[in-house]
Amino acid sequence: MAYEAHMEVHPAVLVGAINSGAPHERFQQLAATCPVIHNVDGSVTLTRLADMQELHRMRGICAQGLVAAGVGASHGRLIPLDLDGPEHTRYRKVLDPLFSPKRMLAREAEFFALSNEVIDRFIDDGEAELYAAYCKYAPGIMFLRLMGLPETDVEELLVFNDAQLRTDPALSAAEATDHRNSVTARFYEYLNAVLDEKARLAAPPDDVLGHLLHVEIEGARLTRSDIVDITFLLMIAGLDTVASNLANALVRLADRPDLRRQLMDDPTIWTSAAEELIRFESVVSFSKRASRDAIEIAGEVIPAMTTMYMLWPASNLDESTFHEPLEIDLLRSPNPHIAFGLGKHRCLGSHLARMELRSGLRALLERIPDYRLTEDPDFRTGGNPRSPKMVSIAWDTATDNNRDRTVASLSKGHLE
Ligand code: HEM
Repeated sequence: MAYEAHMEVHPAVLVGAINSGAPHERFQQLAATCPVIHNVDGSVTLTRLADMQELHRMRGICAQGLVAAGVGASHGRLIPLDLDGPEHTRYRKVLDPLFSPKRMLAREAEFFALSNEVIDRFIDDGEAELYAAYCKYAPGIMFLRLMGLPETDVEELLVFNDAQLRTDPALSAAEATDHRNSVTARFYEYLNAVLDEKARLAAPPDDVLGHLLHVEIEGARLTRSDIVDITFLLMIAGLDTVASNLANALVRLADRPDLRRQLMDDPTIWTSAAEELIRFESVVSFSKRASRDAIEIAGEVIPAMTTMYMLWPASNLDESTFHEPLEIDLLRSPNPHIAFGLGKHRCLGSHLARMELRSGLRALLERIPDYRLTEDPDFRTGGNPRSPKMVSIAWDTATDNNRDRTVASLSKGHLE
């Protein structure tokens, strides 16, 4: 294969592709032709799955945070994302059991029922803007339940999230920073009050915050600042990533009645279908890494401590790994995508994300199997996670033949 060696790309080109909401063809082409993009600021971007895997097998690779510049401006480290080595491992040992496959699977019927309750609110209208009414709402509430935060705070917490992850184009840079700082300060105050209240309870509640307050690492409890830094990351990583994946998938499926029909005809394929939509949409657009020593990757020498971007969506469209990567194949097997990242920082919430995507899509499509987009979805800028601003749809209300369905009819899914 002929590669465009030493191709120089202005980051704006990649960002432009992500912000367009449809970076697939561009990214597939980059993975096919340019394994190492040299960005004009001296950083590089890797595009191929095998190279990213090789990189993560090397010693001395460190994380440089997943999130965009500006996030975390007014607080400490994002735990565990900004940590490496044994310190990172210690925190993951505490966090992994809280989001384990078994624990997430045990909440699937509850999430499916919750999704149907949310759908009940708009099903008779024949039209809805699904991003606000469904995609961010059902996973958002489920996430707050898991964390042990009041469901009624979902809107306010989504404002906190938006302030960290997305810049309002109407604001100047200074105004955006002020807004982010004031929302962050409010969040700290809010979270500390919740933690104070939980700490006063005689028995620790069975939720993530309850566990964090009582868990011990090597005989010592987590400090309050650790708990706040962990929760901060969990909020920005977990509150609307699934919403973005769900929204992208629903936009995509609007034009694909054949795929919707396939899903309706064979309820055994939800798990593999969700996996394919996670691969195809790959909503976390990039993460950063650096190597403590100079390394050679894809035939190029990368100097020590060069920022290396992992363009996850490109790797998941890499034709040397995936047959016809631009095709959505709901039965794709194997499907070794890396939309949840690689190595020690691989996504903590992947089992939750899989469960919610599978059940959230299923709940909606069973109630509204046929729908059409009524407005251009228009994509948010920022791209991490990549998401439409809205999913405005209309449907024929007579098609809701599942009004009386019970959660008992939900078939058992598989997590990993
Ligand atoms: C479709 C949904 C999601 C996608 C595509 C996704 C993707 C990713 C990716 C690519 C990484 C790796 C970052 C890196 O290597 O620097 C990551 C890390 C992480 N994700 Fe997710 N994520 C999703 C949902 C969630 C959810 C629901 C949670 C909630 C618990 C979550 C929590 C985290 C955390 C805490 C990390 C950092 C792990 C560490 O540094 O050890 N993610 N995610």
